[in-house]
Amino acid sequence: MPQKKPDRPGAEAWLPQHLDPEALAAGIEACRGCELYRAATHGVPGEGRYDADLMLVGEQPGDQEDRQARPFVGPAGRLLARALEEAGLDPDGVYRTNAVKHFRFDPGRAGKRIHKGPSRAHIGACGPWLAAEIELVQPKGVVLLGATAGSAVFGSSFRVGASRGRELEWPEEYHTEWQPEWALATTHPSAILRSRNRDKDLAALVEDLAEARQLLAR
Ligand code: URA
Ligand code: SF4
Repeated sequence: MPQKKPDRPGAEAWLPQHLDPEALAAGIEACRGCELYRAATHGVPGEGRYDADLMLVGEQPGDQEDRQARPFVGPAGRLLARALEEAGLDPDGVYRTNAVKHFRFDPGRAGKRIHKGPSRAHIGACGPWLAAEIELVQPKGVVLLGATAGSAVFGSSFRVGASRGRELEWPEEYHTEWQPEWALATTHPSAILRSRNRDKDLAALVEDLAEARQLLAR
């Protein structure tokens, strides 16, 4: 594990004693577990059904998510909702969250904020929030959207490529009492928005989500 820096103590100290949706959201908004809170507007908790069988984990909030304090409300979120529907899953019936709860970006021209993926240390510092959401929602299965979500659960050597679209055993060493039955890794919808083969890549995401639906139906 990377060394903890004094300005990056990790999220533990901000975890509420009693876990409920309001306490979770307030804790994330107040969190100073790493330096990402400084430049961001809000900490963004997950959203959706707290009794969902399926949890989807993205990377971090984007520009819109940071302004609205809600996950998946921008272009990637719209694409994800469409893919869920095409796979026969109700977008309102799942719980959606991110591996890291504050938006990391570089300043661009004219006030634009350029997305910058979280580092290994940010993923580690923010890990207690994802674990808390897993305890709260107790999902049967977890879809990991992209490498950041994958490494938040399986460790930093995780790559989506080799294992995408199929049932993965939930890692025993993941530090929650609640153990989901399975994980399934797939592409992040933002990668599809950037792709030159959008239709093909979207079809592959839909196929992977349809596999998750099959696993839920078992
Ligand atoms: N991308 C993510 O990973 N999460 C969001 O909430 C929005 C875009
Ligand atoms: Fe806390 Fe995570 Fe935000 Fe860092 S990114 S301040 S650990 S909520």
